[in-house]
Amino acid sequence: MKILITGASSGIGAGLAKLYATPDNELLLLARREDKLLTLKSQLEPTCKRVNIIVCDVSDFDYLQDKIKQIGTLDMVVLNAGISIGHSFEITPFKDFKRLFDVNLLSNHAILEVVLPQFIAQKSGKIVFISSLASLIAMPSSKAYSASKRALNAYAESIRYKYKKDGIKVVNILPGFIQSEMTDKNDFNMPFLLSNEDGVKRIYKAIENNRRLYAFPKRFFLIIKFLTLLPQFIRDMIVGSKMKKMMQDSE
Ligand SMILES: NC(=O)c1ccc[n+]([C@@H]2O[C@H](COP(=O)([O-])OP(=O)(O)OC[C@H]3O[C@@H](n4cnc5c(N)ncnc54)[C@H](OP(=O)(O)O)[C@@H]3O)[C@@H](O)[C@H]2O)c1
Repeated sequence: MKILITGASSGIGAGLAKLYATPDNELLLLARREDKLLTLKSQLEPTCKRVNIIVCDVSDFDYLQDKIKQIGTLDMVVLNAGISIGHSFEITPFKDFKRLFDVNLLSNHAILEVVLPQFIAQKSGKIVFISSLASLIAMPSSKAYSASKRALNAYAESIRYKYKKDGIKVVNILPGFIQSEMTDKNDFNMPFLLSNEDGVKRIYKAIENNRRLYAFPKRFFLIIKFLTLLPQFIRDMIVGSKMKKMMQDSE
């Protein structure tokens, strides 16, 4: 298989690259940090059919699309590149909000605008989205992040309905907290935090099993699911008291 993984220079993306580095697979690893990508490439080359790196900022849409066009045919894309802009109760500056949406949402469509016609022509292809449990319940301290991931769920769902008849598989992954550079920056208690290795293995298995929607860890997902089923005024009270405590702790 020829596989493109975005955000492959660290965390979940790098972990998935390691699991897909087999003699049958050709990997294309995309991110901004060339040094990290080169180190990973040299680690993976002994076990992988071929490893190429693409140094690119996914929010530079024209450059990104040019690079994707140069790749040629693909079998799978893992749309993993993502950022968080921290947890704050302040009004998010517009430029930060836009940057987050460019990376977490719009870059995925920039890639798929190029990839989808090719998948349709070959009547096969797999698209993996890396969303988040934060898409299911929005926290006042991560407005842009939750909104971008909820929008990503809607996008993934519509792509799945639209292109099912074309033989295209869509997998949407909603992880809870997994150890990575992103979560290393969090200074609050992260419930059900998984090691990078554990989290990545679960994601890999879900991709291989073509799970339409895989939200995990299960207990964390069930708690969030339960909260979303409650009437809004009860959710307001629960989230409100939790946030009050977080604000007090951050003072
Ligand atoms: N860890 C968690 O608990 C968790 C939970 C739910 C969802 N997720 C999602 O999982 C995905 C991976 O995150 P992670 O936890 O593995 O964090 P991470 O270690 O910070 O990885 C993020 C990756 O995205 C790349 N990236 C960021 N901005 C980019 C840009 N403008 N252009 C190209 N690449 C860019 C980074 O590479 P460069 O900096 O080299 O560009 C890096 O490879 C994200 O979409 C995140 O939202 C994570």
